[in-house]
Amino acid sequence: MFETVLNAINTLSHASTNTQGVSRTGRLMRVNYAGEIAAQGLYSGAKAFSTDSNFQDFCTHAIQEERVHLDWCLERMNAHYAKPSVLNPVIFCSAFVLGAASSIPGKQYALAFIEETERQVLKHLESHLRLVPRDDERTREVLMQMIEDESMHKDAAAESGAATLPGVVSASMQALGGVLTNLTFWV
Ligand SMILES: [Fe+2]
Ligand SMILES: [Fe+2]
Repeated sequence: MFETVLNAINTLSHASTNTQGVSRTGRLMRVNYAGEIAAQGLYSGAKAFSTDSNFQDFCTHAIQEERVHLDWCLERMNAHYAKPSVLNPVIFCSAFVLGAASSIPGKQYALAFIEETERQVLKHLESHLRLVPRDDERTREVLMQMIEDESMHKDAAAESGAATLPGVVSASMQALGGVLTNLTFWV
């Protein structure tokens, strides 16, 4: 967990020297990078406050896969001269708290938030894929692989016993996700 925070801060400081123009694709990958930061926080918080060893293993595996996504997004951001969002440390901490809070009453609740988060990430990735130019093959390849992986994460959470979130909670998460997406597109 702490390594993830340090990596995020390190990445932020390295990229801050970048002064070239940022394309829309670069901004979209900044949004996706922030989403991966949130995933790290969510899974890390859920794992840290769970006493279920199977669920902890589930989180460990997901953290490793999301870490690969993080690296891909960083690579694509750098290729498009985009900096990581300044909000990343706040996003990580908020997601960690959400993961922890949802894990304490039982893994089915943590899985419910994971499933909803993965569903939202999936929607963003699919919309971003439609916006990335056809000739940007590497970015499209990354997005398509992430779509496949996030879909599996969502299904894995559901199949592992995720509770059903009240509609108002899902709607609130979608609203918050929309705000964060807009913010991280620009800063
Ligand atoms: Fe991911
Ligand atoms: Fe995921």
